[in-house]
Amino acid sequence: MKIFVDTANVQAIKEAMALGIVDGVTTNPTLVSKEGDNPEKIIKEICALVEDRPVNAEVLSLDSDGMVKEARVIADWADNIVIKIPMMKEGLKAVKILADEGIKSNVTLIFSATQAILAAKAGAAYVSPFVGRLDDISTDGMDLVADIVNIYQNYDAISTEVIVASIRHPIHVIQSGLIGADILTIPPKVLQMMEKHPLTDKGIDMFLEDAKKFKKS
Ligand code: E4P
Repeated sequence: MKIFVDTANVQAIKEAMALGIVDGVTTNPTLVSKEGDNPEKIIKEICALVEDRPVNAEVLSLDSDGMVKEARVIADWADNIVIKIPMMKEGLKAVKILADEGIKSNVTLIFSATQAILAAKAGAAYVSPFVGRLDDISTDGMDLVADIVNIYQNYDAISTEVIVASIRHPIHVIQSGLIGADILTIPPKVLQMMEKHPLTDKGIDMFLEDAKKFKKS
């Protein structure tokens, strides 16, 4: 299992890096907008910070020509850039052109297995099914992840990796691991939830309390 950090916050990425758990980073326009700085500056800083690990940055154009132009500029910012392309017909055209040029793409906003099949066929290096947003509309997001993983596993020619996105809580993480998803992109808040357990805290407190009873000599 690879873990990407789902944030554009440099400090949060630094903290996750210190834990030795970071295999990459995903951003989106919403996450970048929260940082209140120039997107190019933020993405370049993240790329340098995580060295050769993939850093996902999203295009804003809605036509394939515009997406490809934007993607070429962003891909020049660093060697470890992956371009996030929204799932749509124009997006698939862009993915194909970029794949032919050796630029990796992550097709984002995937909400069905058929979308994931098309993205893989177009040449996407990654697809991002959004589990939390499906759960929000009373549809089990993890069922979609399981379908995509199963379908991809049926075909040796598909090398597209599945990034579980829109993760909202640790249960999503456990379910993704049981399914065998390639990558989980996890927000810092959920990483903190994964680390905590009340019995661990209670156990530490108890050991420290009992250590006060050690004989001095
Ligand atoms: C990451 O690639 C996605 O953009 C992100 O996980 C979306 O998460 P959200 O649905 O919580 O906004």
